[in-house]
Amino acid sequence: MSDARSIDEQSCPFYRDDLVTIYCADSTDLAGLDDASVDLVITSPPYNLDVSYNGYADALPYDRYVQWVGRWARALFRVTQSTGRACINIPLDSNKGGKRAVYADYIRIFREAGWQYQTTIVWNEQNISRRTAWGSWLSPSAPFVTAPVEMVPIFYKDDWRRPRGNRISDVTRDEFLAWTLGVWEFPGENPKKVGHPAPFPIELPRRLIKLYSYLDDVILDPFLGSGTTAVAAKVLNRRCVGVDVDPHYCQIAAERCREVASTNGSP
Ligand SMILES: C[S@@+](CC[C@H](N)C(=O)[O-])C[C@H]1O[C@@H](n2cnc3c(N)ncnc32)[C@H](O)[C@@H]1O
Repeated sequence: MSDARSIDEQSCPFYRDDLVTIYCADSTDLAGLDDASVDLVITSPPYNLDVSYNGYADALPYDRYVQWVGRWARALFRVTQSTGRACINIPLDSNKGGKRAVYADYIRIFREAGWQYQTTIVWNEQNISRRTAWGSWLSPSAPFVTAPVEMVPIFYKDDWRRPRGNRISDVTRDEFLAWTLGVWEFPGENPKKVGHPAPFPIELPRRLIKLYSYLDDVILDPFLGSGTTAVAAKVLNRRCVGVDVDPHYCQIAAERCREVASTNGSP
């Protein structure tokens, strides 16, 4: 999908601190990451919606996009350990080049890559102000329905149950009760604030990390962007490996991680 080097060719990290390692590389095959080395994947891949990223062209023919998703879904499967999980933030559907059932396609692609489906969290971004495409206004001729939500399907590798052993959980009673109801409501992130065209808010990885991982687990974000997952992981005392193909975004992510280090844990 890109001419960028893989992690293998680029074994020197772009940034490293006590908890976070960032590679500026193409993560399609995740060559260079060990098999079964990751406990939890949290990511938001390019949606193929023609977003103006710094370098990456986000407008493939849909069948090529689907093939590419299959490649990295298989790579994630390889690097995730047997009771590991994957939380993939994607749109419900898209209107680019015809109506596409993106979420339904991801479920199929991930299953074909070996993943088992566990559940889906519906994230209500409350972004109804962007709603302008009505289709046939005040007519049943061809109305368009828009759902102001994004989907976060949760997959696992072999076993959903992940024994605690002597690992430490930090999710509180109130958080657990609230977050196990699968509709989450909080606003998206302001792209200008973080200098990236499609960031997710820190609240998304924060909840996923606390709900689905133990302290000191290894979290992987193969499409790191502005580094939101790494910041959340660092604040919550998890290790994080982040990969992005674009050096400009890696720089932003590294800077955000440095700021966390210097503020002793608050993003
Ligand atoms: C939706 S954004 C991720 C945003 C991130 N969650 C954040 O909060 O900033 C997707 C990212 O994937 C990166 N990307 C696209 N193709 C890639 C590839 N083959 N390997 C690694 N990163 C890639 C883009 O540069 C972009 O930053």
